Amino acid sequence: MQLALVVLAAGQGTRMNSDLPKVLHEVGNLPLFAHALSLGAKLEADRSVLVLGHGADQVRSKSEDLGEAASIVIQSEQRGTGHAVACAGEALHDFDGDVLVLFGDTPFIRPQTIETMLAKRAGADIVVLGFEAEDPARYGRFVTAGEQLVKIVEFKDAKPEERSITLCNSGVLLANRSVLFDLIGQLDDNNASGELYLTDVVALGQKQGLSAGFVKCKEAETLGINSRQDLARAERVFQDDKRREALENGVTLLDPSSTFFSYDTYLGRDSTVEQNVVFGPGVTVETGARIRAFSHIEGAHVGADTIVGPFARLRPGTELSNKVRIGNFVETKNARIGEGSKVNHLSYIGDTDMGDAVNVGAGTVTCNYDGTFKHKTTIGDRAFIGSDTMLVAPVTIGADTMTASGSVITKDVPDSALAIARQRQENKPGLAVMIRERLKTMKQKAKKDS
Ligand code: UD1
Ligand code: CA
Repeated sequence: MQLALVVLAAGQGTRMNSDLPKVLHEVGNLPLFAHALSLGAKLEADRSVLVLGHGADQVRSKSEDLGEAASIVIQSEQRGTGHAVACAGEALHDFDGDVLVLFGDTPFIRPQTIETMLAKRAGADIVVLGFEAEDPARYGRFVTAGEQLVKIVEFKDAKPEERSITLCNSGVLLANRSVLFDLIGQLDDNNASGELYLTDVVALGQKQGLSAGFVKCKEAETLGINSRQDLARAERVFQDDKRREALENGVTLLDPSSTFFSYDTYLGRDSTVEQNVVFGPGVTVETGARIRAFSHIEGAHVGADTIVGPFARLRPGTELSNKVRIGNFVETKNARIGEGSKVNHLSYIGDTDMGDAVNVGAGTVTCNYDGTFKHKTTIGDRAFIGSDTMLVAPVTIGADTMTASGSVITKDVPDSALAIARQRQENKPGLAVMIRERLKTMKQKAKKDS
């Protein structure tokens, strides 16, 4: 059976109080709409359609940046969830299979839950996901008869006895494509909101002899985001999930509550993360690596048994091989650092290709930027870069070389050479004492005169 995803994301999200369309707000550094679409990837859906309206251009361009394969349709006027689904009809006219409708602002639906819905489809034409609401508030209510879903009543349209129902509609709905769009075509806006309710397909189907069933999930799973409060709560839920997942995967977190993940953070088994570490997008950490306290890492690969931090900053394009040491107050960006190499203190390494077993002394800087262009630094295996070396790129430091500390290296250094690029030292015998005496005399004279 083929599966297509339709993600509804045309609404404005007024309560976010934001210039940004709601679904561009992020949880775990990934926009909400992409969380919804990722469910399609996890379920290996054959197609995805994203229904956009408010801020469609912005969402479209973010979707392209992220390389999403979803086709985008525009709902220029928001006439309800049923109307939004109808807008996807054309994009799916040749699709033969089931359609799963999701909301773009509901990021936590689990693939297992959808699997349960798919299984339920064997005995029902329409399957809707519900939950027991702690506070049913303004959710649509499920009117059921045993295993059957008879209809969904929107809060605004519900009679008092229907409002007392606590089994609520999550908004996730599954049906065969032609059945769904046939019913959608029959919707009317004869209701309290004057909208086309997607939820009405259940009662309409019932009249035509189609059956509807339901699946229940935990309320937390259907958490929708309507305000910044909701967004903050969703972020906490997301972080707690990631922490639990990491611990289950054999990662040691010294203080789980202070480890912050992105949606795609990967931490290998037997890696360790100390307190107060932030993982931006695009991080993979291999087994046995240790991320020490107060480090900030994004777009970086950390090899096995490598130690990073404390207080390190790895920026995008950082590739640390195995057994590397990155110490305190070291920043790396677009840098490959070979096996066993050490950059232990107060350094900036950018646009660099560094070999194996290199030692970089404290305060070393790759001067990669001339104000207009970025330039590359290449450092060969076993080079020893003296403390406070300025490597003015483009520059190549050969294998088995040394640079004298305090050097400003502007020319390539051939293999095995020692490069010294600083003033030669001169010692003046006795001069220190002479100068000190002269200064003391000057100070006494100044005191007497004042
Ligand atoms: C909807 C359900 C309700 C359910 C609740 C769960 C309907 C009629 N009601 O109500 O039963 O309990 O969700 O949160 O379906 N959207 C569009 N275009 C539109 C209208 C909505 O794309 O014209 C999108 C919104 O951007 C949003 C989603 O659909 O992502 C849900 O819309 P919303 O207005 O929040 O629905 P509710 O009134 O909350
Ligand atoms: Ca809503």
